[in-house]
This record gives sequence, C-alpha cells and structure tokens, in this order.
Amino acid sequence: MTAGHTCAVAGIAARFLQLRQRTLELCAGLSAEDLQLQSMPDASPGKWHLAHTSWFFEQFVLGRDPAYRPRDPAWHYLFNSYYQSVGPMHARPQRGLLSRPSLDEVRDYRRRIDDAVGELLDRSDDAELPGLVELGLQHEQQHQELLLTDIKHALWCNPLQPAYRAPVAAPADAKAVPLQFVAGREGIAEIGHRGEGFAFDNETPRHRTLLQPHALANRLVTNAEYLAFMGEGGYREPGLWLSDGWATLQREGWQHPLYWQDDLASEFTLAGVRALDPHEPVCHLSYYEAEAFAHWAGARLPTEAEWESAAQGVAIEGNLQDAQRFQPRAAGAGSGLQQLYGDAWEWTASPYIGYPGFRPLPGSLGEYNGKFMCGQWVLRGGSCATPRDHIRATYRNFFPPQARWQFAGLRLGQDR
Ligand code: AVJ
Ligand code: FE
Repeated sequence: MTAGHTCAVAGIAARFLQLRQRTLELCAGLSAEDLQLQSMPDASPGKWHLAHTSWFFEQFVLGRDPAYRPRDPAWHYLFNSYYQSVGPMHARPQRGLLSRPSLDEVRDYRRRIDDAVGELLDRSDDAELPGLVELGLQHEQQHQELLLTDIKHALWCNPLQPAYRAPVAAPADAKAVPLQFVAGREGIAEIGHRGEGFAFDNETPRHRTLLQPHALANRLVTNAEYLAFMGEGGYREPGLWLSDGWATLQREGWQHPLYWQDDLASEFTLAGVRALDPHEPVCHLSYYEAEAFAHWAGARLPTEAEWESAAQGVAIEGNLQDAQRFQPRAAGAGSGLQQLYGDAWEWTASPYIGYPGFRPLPGSLGEYNGKFMCGQWVLRGGSCATPRDHIRATYRNFFPPQARWQFAGLRLGQDR
C-alpha cells in the first residue's frame, strides 16, 4: 500500500460516515408511513432512496471483494435503479408498493453497508476503491436532494399539507436587488472539467466553445416578475409558448407554478403553506414555463457555456442544503452576479448531450449519465436542496422539459 493510498483512504472514510449520516438526518421527523409514499412515477419513496444508495455501494464498491456476500441477494432486483448491465430491476412507478423490506430492515441494511465499506477501505489495497467510494458519495448527495424534492411532492399531495420542517426566518431586509444585465465574456472559451477533484463523466472533456456577445441577469427571476408574466396572459397566450410546452400546459391544466395555491398568494413549501414572497426566486417551473417567461420578457435562457464561463472562479456559496432553509431566498444586495449557486437550479437553453469527445465511464457505471443524453435539458448552479460540497461550476444537472418537482427556476440571458 502506498502512502498516497493510505492518505486517500483516511480522508474518504471520514467523509463516507459523515455523508451517510447526513442522509439519515434528512429523514429525521419523517415517519415510516411518510418514507413509504410514492406520489408519482418520477418520485421515489424515501425508504427506496435509503436502500438504493446503499445498494449502489454494495454493487460498485463491495462487489469488488470476491468474498463479499450481499445482505439479501433478492434485494438487488428491488434497489437496482436503471443499470441494465447488472441485471433486471423492479419497475420505477411501482417502488411505493415495496412495503417489504421494512424501514427498520432498510436502516439495518444501511448500517451493514457502512460497516462493510469502512472495513474494506481499511484492509484493501485496490487503487480504484477511493474513487469508487467518492462516486458513491456524490451519488448519495444526488439522492439527498431527490429525497427532499420527492418528500415535498408527497406531503403536498396530502390535503393537510403537512410541513417537513419548521420554517427558518428570512432576514428582515430580504428584498431582491433590482434586475440588471451583466455583459459576459465573448469569443473562444473553455468549459468542462479537467484536473483536480471529482467530476461526473458528463462534465468532461474540457473543450473550447464559442461565446457570442451576450449578457446575463444579475439574479434569478422573482415571484413578482413571474406574477407580471401571468398577469399579462402568461398561461393563456399560446404565442409565448413552445408547441410542446403549450400542449403540456393544456394536457396538465397548468395555471401557475407547481405548489402555488390557486389564490396566487400562497404556496406549499417544506415548511408548510405560507404567503408567496414577491422577492423570492420563482421555483418549481418546467423548462417550458421558464422558456415562455423569457420569451415574454424579450430575453432568452442562458446557454450552459455562458453560465459556466460566468461561474468560473466564483466562490461556491449561497442558499444551499447546508443552510437548512430548503426554500429559495431573495437575492440580497451586492454587485455582479448573485445566486449563481443555490436557491433554484437554472434551466439553460442547452440540450443535455455529450461534450465533443465525451466518453462514458467504462463498464456498468457508463450507464450512470450518458444513456440519458436524449430529450433532456441542462440545469446549472444547484438549489436550496443541493449540498455545498456537491455543486461546482462544471456541474451539469438534467431533467426532461416537463419536470416541475425539482427546485428549478431561471435567470434571464440576452444577446448583445
Ligand atoms: C442527475 C438528478 C437527473 O435523478 O436520476 C441518481 C441523479 N443518477 N442516481 C437522477 C442520479 C443516478 C439523476 N439526475
Ligand atoms: Fe441513483
């Protein structure tokens, strides 16, 4: 074992326990009944998230040890999400039907996985191990955010509209700064990950791209601005919408962002129903709604390259999961670009496709990101549910254009 390996292992082992514990902390206050709910096919039960993230370590980390015996081989089918190359899986829309194993058994499963990973890290000299555990932790963090968005949707479906957590008071002066456009870099720019630190395969390779003359808004679009769009017929004027967007609006009966009440004066949050704050960023929009708003505003969505070049070198701070507010917050005073990180994911104008020269990870983990590069759009910057040490300038989130249950809003961009 090299000294470098020993050092990498010590760092990752501590982070492993801390992040696994954090997932359980996010479930504190949720009952077994809460964690069993699956409110729609896109969402998963909390219990399934707890088990699937453990399965991921079992499959891709512990599976490297030929002597490892799974907790129960039959669970592989239940908690494999979408890795066709490691076997068939239970249908995603039916995850809420898995009353067995029980929550207690899943908690016990997590403990066994934690012990086994810790023990394997201690004794193995497998050079691939720290990197795979790191991938498992980044995966765990993605599921922490999904757990929050999925429980928000499930609680919202209950007519009692129960709160997940008590509200965190916003500072008294929480008013959005006036909207301004800030000129971006133009010409040949580099985006994508290279070098130090973790990145998913879809963030690579770093490559050159051409930025046209453009500007980005200094902050996210607010609820007040979105209400102005609605007041001018936002949800009634087909001319503002993409054809697919208008068809979706009609089919789904959309009249306002997901979680707004019909009075347009209150919304459901993870702290229960509360008055709509005009200064807060508008959130829980589909790509279609974000695009229609930008059209109405005489602007457009930024491209992911414009966003990334603006974010390069900017400190990663903002209203992220670590703040435990779980709700976007008004952009405070300050010059330059606000809210690049946190609050709400920013829909971009960029389709989710591979960068020039993209190669998925080898083997089964190649199914992680690459196979979803069709019909989805890139979102940037993280949200109030994203852990601070998970987001970065090169990070590419992606969802289909009709998805609304994620913490997603927008920042305007424009041509110059
Ligand atoms: C990147 C958030 C779209 O939700 O499937 C979780 C994250 N990937 N497990 C998703 C993910 C594998 C992914 N998103
Ligand atoms: Fe997953």
